[in-house]
Amino acid sequence: MDATRKISNIALIGFMGTGKSSVGRLVADQLHFTFLDTDDVLVSRAGKPIAEIFAQEGEPAFREKESALVHELTLRTRTVISTGGGLPVNPANLASLKTHALVMCLWASPEKIHERVHGQSHRPLLNDPDALAKIRALLAAREPSYRQADVLVNTEMRSVREVAHQVIHQYRLALSAHR
Ligand code: S3P
Repeated sequence: MDATRKISNIALIGFMGTGKSSVGRLVADQLHFTFLDTDDVLVSRAGKPIAEIFAQEGEPAFREKESALVHELTLRTRTVISTGGGLPVNPANLASLKTHALVMCLWASPEKIHERVHGQSHRPLLNDPDALAKIRALLAAREPSYRQADVLVNTEMRSVREVAHQVIHQYRLALSAHR
């Protein structure tokens, strides 16, 4: 990593169901940072759930709102940013996050993700008769983007608390390397 990188925030990227929001909340709590979830901001701005944004305005409109929000985040400090699973697929979004945040990707296998999101209906991309096949295909397509993160954290056999601990550890390591 470039030693002159500015690290004012932590950004969590990764597939749906890898625990970005739960881990992010805990990390923010422990570091006394603000917590921001990009999906929550977009839902509150649109005044409707993500499934409705997708259904009424289409995915490209959602992605535009997402990118506009990413641009606003460059002004933040001491914030843990939990991002929607598709956000880093746009290289400009990832590049923007890297100008101010340490970007960490939470990782899990398709089977584990399926187990975690099973029965939830608020994610339009997973409303598919064969959700596991959809997860496998989307994850494989997105893996190159997720691998652009500064740090990859495996969440597979770890509790939310353990993953949060690992995120904080990696953040402190990165800060000390940049002093
Ligand atoms: C999406 C992930 C969701 C949400 C939207 C699209 C994706 O966020 O942004 O449903 O493309 O992977 P989570 O990863 O927080 O579920």
